[in-house]
Amino acid sequence: MDMTTSRVDSAFKDDVLRCFEREIYAIPARWLYDRQGSELFEQITDLAEYYPTRTETDLLKRYSAEVTEMTGSNRAVIEFGSGSSTKTPHLLRAADPAAYVPIDISGEFLAHSAAQLQQQFPDLAIYPLEADFMRRLNLPDEVKDMPKLGFFPGSTIGNMIARTSVDLLRFMRETLGLGSQLLIGFDRVKDTDTLVAAYDDSAGVTAEFSLNLLHRINRELDSDIAVDQFRHVAVWNDLFARIEIYLEAQSDVCFSIDNRSFNLAKGQQIHIENSHKYGLRDARLMLRAGGWSPVCEWSDERDYFSLVLAKADAFKHAP
Ligand code: AVI
Repeated sequence: MDMTTSRVDSAFKDDVLRCFEREIYAIPARWLYDRQGSELFEQITDLAEYYPTRTETDLLKRYSAEVTEMTGSNRAVIEFGSGSSTKTPHLLRAADPAAYVPIDISGEFLAHSAAQLQQQFPDLAIYPLEADFMRRLNLPDEVKDMPKLGFFPGSTIGNMIARTSVDLLRFMRETLGLGSQLLIGFDRVKDTDTLVAAYDDSAGVTAEFSLNLLHRINRELDSDIAVDQFRHVAVWNDLFARIEIYLEAQSDVCFSIDNRSFNLAKGQQIHIENSHKYGLRDARLMLRAGGWSPVCEWSDERDYFSLVLAKADAFKHAP
């Protein structure tokens, strides 16, 4: 970012300074996604080792018609964190929706992908909504009275700890309303080698994606971190059922951020991302905790990934 023309994102600066000042070495994963990070993530989705995107796309191609048999057509499809909306056409083709509302925090990205989708679906009413979907949202008036199908692909829920995931599911229920449905992707627990390879690929693209966070700090926060002194580390934590990603200092390093000096000892790790994996029962329990009743599930032959359809029913009295 050109410091002369762009303002510093104070939330980014606060999160980065908090990490190094308090010596609690963690930076929220959302800062991985600046323009460079988003481009690198798109490259990750094409990697041979990164099975989630391919597997989920195949599931959508194969089962979107079945999903629509269960949901009925003519709903408004509301996509949370739509990004480049690459998987969406498979669902839209089958769902024949009354409207489509892509929600994304990046307005620029949103306008671009909505325009592309409009070309593919010239008759579809598209109402892009620039917003942070991690809270309750007001949907566009045009779709307020339509029956709704939420769409949350990619196992993005896996990047949140359990408490945050449940909060998000509750916000989605409030946003979409009673009687709405939700189609959500869950990456499944599988053998450790496959999981670690998906987050530490042989071409080093995921490493570049992680290290871009340090480049971003240098670009945006007037910093001088020697990025080549850090390495990307991806490990499976079985107790938490998640891949954890760290940046590890390979020597003692000193740097300054915003005129403040910091030292990191060789071996110090900075925790930058979690990617939780689920058993089907974990996914069902999490959905229920967030106010959604699972109604149907679709998985690939290897059980690498699952799509779950859930309903926002009225709460019943429990014994
Ligand atoms: C966006 N999210 C679902 C990805 C994942 O698989 O957890 C982010 C990612 N990080 C490194 N590789 C992919």
